[in-house]
Amino acid sequence: MTEPLLLPAPHPKQRQPPPGTRAWGCGLAAAVLVLLLLLLAASDPLRLRAWRLFGAPPEPIELTLLAGATEKGAVCLDGTPPGYHLQRGSGDGASKWLVHLEGGGWCSTVKDCSNRKMSALGSSNFMKPILFAGAGILGSDQQLNPDFYNWNKVYVRYCDGASFSGDTEGRAQDGSILHFRGLHIYEAVIDELMRKGLANATQALLTGCSAGGLATILHCDDFSARFPREVSVKCLADAGFFLDVKDISGVRSFWSVYDGVVHLQNIREVLPKECLANKEPTECFFPAELIKSIRTPMFILNSGYDSWQIQNVLVPVSSSPDKSWLSCKNNIRNCNSTQIQVLDGFRNSMVNNLKVVEDKGDWGMFIDSCFTHCQTLYGISWNSPISPRLGNNTIAEAVGDWYSRRRQEVKQIDCEYPCNPTCSSLLPT
Ligand SMILES: *[C@@H]1O[C@H](CO)[C@@H](O)[C@H](O)[C@H]1NC(C)=O
Ligand SMILES: *[C@@H]1O[C@H](CO)[C@@H](O)[C@H](O)[C@H]1NC(C)=O
Ligand SMILES: *[C@@H]1O[C@H](CO)[C@@H](O)[C@H](O)[C@H]1NC(C)=O
Repeated sequence: MTEPLLLPAPHPKQRQPPPGTRAWGCGLAAAVLVLLLLLLAASDPLRLRAWRLFGAPPEPIELTLLAGATEKGAVCLDGTPPGYHLQRGSGDGASKWLVHLEGGGWCSTVKDCSNRKMSALGSSNFMKPILFAGAGILGSDQQLNPDFYNWNKVYVRYCDGASFSGDTEGRAQDGSILHFRGLHIYEAVIDELMRKGLANATQALLTGCSAGGLATILHCDDFSARFPREVSVKCLADAGFFLDVKDISGVRSFWSVYDGVVHLQNIREVLPKECLANKEPTECFFPAELIKSIRTPMFILNSGYDSWQIQNVLVPVSSSPDKSWLSCKNNIRNCNSTQIQVLDGFRNSMVNNLKVVEDKGDWGMFIDSCFTHCQTLYGISWNSPISPRLGNNTIAEAVGDWYSRRRQEVKQIDCEYPCNPTCSSLLPT
């Protein structure tokens, strides 16, 4: 089979080059740490080499294709079966399950969805084995991932283009069928996992990042309803808190993207009835509406200056044709004071949208101000010497404290950029 991949970034894109050499003025230990961090922040082949240098390379985890996918109508955009990667838990983790729904944007037009069929985000023909180890919440090192290291872990591949929520069929320009079956993929995969032991879980966590973070919000109550009362079931939405805000040219361009996805893929079933009773389905696809009716304990992890949202929601290409925002949206350090004010406005909208969480006793949040996207999936953000911290806690500590009720309340919102000194320029964007 083809070469295994590390966990693919939900929005793959070239990383920023590491910053130039600095006068660290210290010994060998610091130099080794920096080298390690640079390697971990670097491109995937380089990361693989880092693993080979610093420890035994982790075993790639094979893709399991969903059994009977065609009969169940649970297929990827191109009609191929969807899949997931399952790593069995051990020790006291053997009956605990973490299910991660993969992210990777959406397709909102026939053309977008037709293009997606030619990639792993639309067809299992292109999916490869992946590596979990070292990857944040999916990692199996007890030191780096103390609360979840030995759990059963499932990485569910995303190949429907609508956050596991569509339910219809369309036709590509070339006449072939476009299968919009995300909702059935979610249901059939969870059913299959139930038969593989999830049904007997004593603890379960549904999570996902970006479009998978939204999917987590959409399916959270359904997921928890599948277990008996005494089972501790919670949800963790990472970088899935997408805002319905105007872009810098005053247009609700991201609303239009969601409107396309919702209508093209017939998203309805997963939307809360309370919301649909007095709002358009597209409105009800936004987390600010969704979270109002969720009953399961949820943790919202997001940066108030989420790099993907700044690049695609606040400053999409269509909003700034003269490229004056290009260097700012690629790196927040290049923004001038006027631009920072606009970003602060975005962050303040997020904080306002999250006010309802204050009244939800068993919920948690970690809203930092670091320019990054997806903070559970990379060891460097999840739990490392350069992780974003709030109240001196890393994300791994905050999520672990909330999940295990070690702290009464874990709801932390960072001050405005650039106040948090723990925001590193090495974080993935
Ligand atoms: C769950 O536990 C019961 C009782 O121990 C057992 O009979 C059953 O096979 C288990 N189910 C799964 C899916 O592991
Ligand atoms: C910041 O940059 C924008 C876009 O290039 C520009 O319109 C604005 O005048 C600049 N503001 C300051 C204070 O330099
Ligand atoms: C912050 O956390 C670190 C390690 O987690 C600990 O050593 C340090 O004492 C803490 N600092 C404060 C001010 O609590």
